[in-house]
Amino acid sequence: MGIIKQLPDLLISQIAAGEVVERPASVLKELLENSLDAGATRIDVQLEEGGVRLIRVTDDGGGMVPDDLPLALARHATSKIASLDDLERVASYGFRGEALASIASVARATVSSRHPSQQHAWRLRSDADSVEPAALAGGTVIEVADLYFNTPARRKFLKTEATEYAHCDEVLRRMALARPDVTFSISHNGSMKRRLASADFHRRAREIIGDDFFPQARPLDESAGPLRLSGLAALPAYSRAGRDEQYFFVNGRFVRDKLLSHAARQAWADILHGARHPAYVLFLELDPAGVDVNVHPAKTEVRFRDAQGIHRFIFHALQRTLATPLAAAGGQATTSRTFVPTAYATARQTGLGVSEPATRAYMDFVAAGFGNVPAGGENHVGAPAPRPDEGTEAGGPLLGYAIAQLHGIYILAQNAAGLILVDMHAAHERILYEKLKTGLDAGPPATQALLVPLVLSASPTELAAVDEHADTLLALGFEMAAAGPRELAVRRLPALLAGGNVNELVRNLLRDLAEHPASRVVETRRNELLATMACHGAVRAHRSLGLMEMNALLRQMEATERADQCNHGRPTWVQLSMTELDRLFMRGR
Ligand SMILES: Nc1ncnc2c1ncn2[C@@H]1O[C@H](COP(=O)(O)OP(=O)(O)OP(=O)(O)O)[C@@H](O)[C@H]1O
Ligand SMILES: [Mg+2]
Repeated sequence: MGIIKQLPDLLISQIAAGEVVERPASVLKELLENSLDAGATRIDVQLEEGGVRLIRVTDDGGGMVPDDLPLALARHATSKIASLDDLERVASYGFRGEALASIASVARATVSSRHPSQQHAWRLRSDADSVEPAALAGGTVIEVADLYFNTPARRKFLKTEATEYAHCDEVLRRMALARPDVTFSISHNGSMKRRLASADFHRRAREIIGDDFFPQARPLDESAGPLRLSGLAALPAYSRAGRDEQYFFVNGRFVRDKLLSHAARQAWADILHGARHPAYVLFLELDPAGVDVNVHPAKTEVRFRDAQGIHRFIFHALQRTLATPLAAAGGQATTSRTFVPTAYATARQTGLGVSEPATRAYMDFVAAGFGNVPAGGENHVGAPAPRPDEGTEAGGPLLGYAIAQLHGIYILAQNAAGLILVDMHAAHERILYEKLKTGLDAGPPATQALLVPLVLSASPTELAAVDEHADTLLALGFEMAAAGPRELAVRRLPALLAGGNVNELVRNLLRDLAEHPASRVVETRRNELLATMACHGAVRAHRSLGLMEMNALLRQMEATERADQCNHGRPTWVQLSMTELDRLFMRGR
């Protein structure tokens, strides 16, 4: 006798409901999506007891004919797709044809709807066999009462009424951000909580996210081939302790996706403190065929066909937006200039480790010489510097004055002879190297204690190297020790390197140390170790620098011996004279 049995339909739906109907908010999400798919322009939500007692969603969408009501509640019945081909390019929120069936299997559901072809509305209760006449001017009303009444084990997982309501509200906020053209309202236990009139995106965003975010938010709208990224991204002056103001939508669908949040995280990495989280509302649009939304029944996860390309696109689009100077940003979302990013500039400056006196010297020079330094004094790419042949500025420093940064890699500067191109990373690396060397020659290096020790995971080999080379490390300015069988704590490091990537720096240093016998390290390998330190302490490519930072770097290069070549023998800068430039344009002088 066989022991395998077909499950009853209700049980199948209840099992499926486990994935879709986690809590009242997930019911609300499904109902809102259905209303939007039906073309609603106005959606009203009424909740009782956090949505556990009742969720009622009323819309003015296209409605359903009475024959469709039983199908709406049946599993695997949908009006939205009919073939695999449809599925691959689905543009509606729904397509699985199981949300209402799942919901109806764990709650008492009622669907009332009036299709324009009908004299009056019709209603179907999930526990009834047939439709009955109902009164409704148009559209659809779905009521979901007594969630989990028949699955008490599930009900135990629900939180307080206030918490469940908060989750429902969050679902509504997401939908409202995605569809500013639609009017929404939500009430709880009879009191109106939110009314959102149809609006443009910026107005809707302001209503949903609030006034603190807005002055710092930069609008963006970037396209690359079939990809488009638009929305609002907050400058680092406005950041959050959590990820609560990160809204990412893919083709209008709110998603939580590691790839997308990672790309965003990276774009803010250099300008935001590690413990803070950026705020954004971003809309990625792409050909539906390029993204699979059928990964999980709740559809908040997606899979991209060209994951790498999308990561790159998002990272660059955001990085560009965050680095664009105020004047060029269009500033339609920004109402004032209050966000001239002081915090932004300082954060980056600390990171680069450009010394205060150097920047001050430059500011003094600018104040004395140019007289037209832009307000704020930094980050204004293209501040008009006089052409040398206009006679205002004869001679001047060897490497001139920075005018712009190119692709996060090169500094463009203007000097008396013409154009200077500087490889930012190579130059900074060289400066650090020379400083480390002369510093060590003069005595013990200046060190900086870390406020919070940096704890890294380390292999037993790396920990052994720390132990064995403790003296060398100390001489180089590092204080570190094992913090566990597989962990290393760094407490102090050379002050010059405090702004760099400490993690990478320590790791490379340990690798270098582990590869060489102890006794000879300090004498014969010191400079190699210093080079490793300089490389990882130096400003990385793709970091945007303000004019002031760039100029400080140029001044340091002039003051540094052998600054013309990086530690790997490549040039750190080249000159293109006016004559050479003129020749490029076949311009006789
Ligand atoms: N508010 C509504 N207005 C008009 N038709 C609706 C509404 N809600 C549901 N329907 C109809 O009921 C069908 C079933 O809805 P259900 O949410 O169960 O599935 P779906 O939206 O097709 O797919 P998914 O399970 O992915 O949400 C829909 O395909 C749609 O035709
Ligand atoms: Mg649906």
